[in-house]
Amino acid sequence: MVTQARQNHIQVVAHRGASEDAPEHTLAAYMKAIADGADALECDVRLTADGHLVCVHDRRVNRTSNGRGAVSALELADLTALDFGTWKGREDATESPDWGDPSLTSVLTLERLLELVADSGRRVELAIETKHPTRWAGQVEERLLQLLGRFGLAAPATAEDSSVRVMSFSARSLHRVAAAAPTIPTVYLMQFVSPRLRDGRLPAGARIAGPSIRIVRNHPAYIERLHRAGHRAHVWTVNEPADVELCAGLGVEAIITNRPRQVLSQLGRP
Ligand code: G3P
Ligand code: CA
Repeated sequence: MVTQARQNHIQVVAHRGASEDAPEHTLAAYMKAIADGADALECDVRLTADGHLVCVHDRRVNRTSNGRGAVSALELADLTALDFGTWKGREDATESPDWGDPSLTSVLTLERLLELVADSGRRVELAIETKHPTRWAGQVEERLLQLLGRFGLAAPATAEDSSVRVMSFSARSLHRVAAAAPTIPTVYLMQFVSPRLRDGRLPAGARIAGPSIRIVRNHPAYIERLHRAGHRAHVWTVNEPADVELCAGLGVEAIITNRPRQVLSQLGRP
């Protein structure tokens, strides 16, 4: 178990749901994450051809469903006909493993995920990542903020009151969100730290840093630089106990993991 005094302040975020135990981005994975006690849920969102935001990581549905094609070329009705549980644990499967109710592994709209969170009976935060936002020239962010508005989540009084945050590798996407909804926290995701940001600065519109665990392993001092610059660090994707220990020791504010139950237990929050 992690021994650092700051361990209880670390938010545990279920990456694509409890995606080690259930197929990523399905109701099954998010329900498991909530039952496991995750503080927050991470999800990737894409626009369908008919303008719905769905929780799918890849550009195409080939890896995670029994269908084929790009999300952007398919309508919600096409996606609804697919099974997003087929692949899990059965890479060569021709038929779906039994996840119980088929609706648990059908395509998940962001709207349904927001309903799940609203009905969870406790505070569960959402970390929503805009995928390929440049392709849609602002439409992903516009639809996202419209939808959040319907759930009363688009205009929190302060960033601290917000139970939703928006993440992206695209600074432009975060800038759009920050301009339209200044109190929704934004997280700038990084696979590497560009030279102009090495002192802990973030691009305009970004409030929180989202470095990969590889950055943290190779440059642990970067977390201190972020903190000195007044920024929080949300690190992804942290699955190994040694990495959890490292992140806790550095005082990161959130750990994004496929294994929320194990990380909570390691942090002394079984
Ligand atoms: O939480 C951030 C992380 O999800 C970014 O990478 O590829 O898993 O979306 P990816
Ligand atoms: Ca993601």
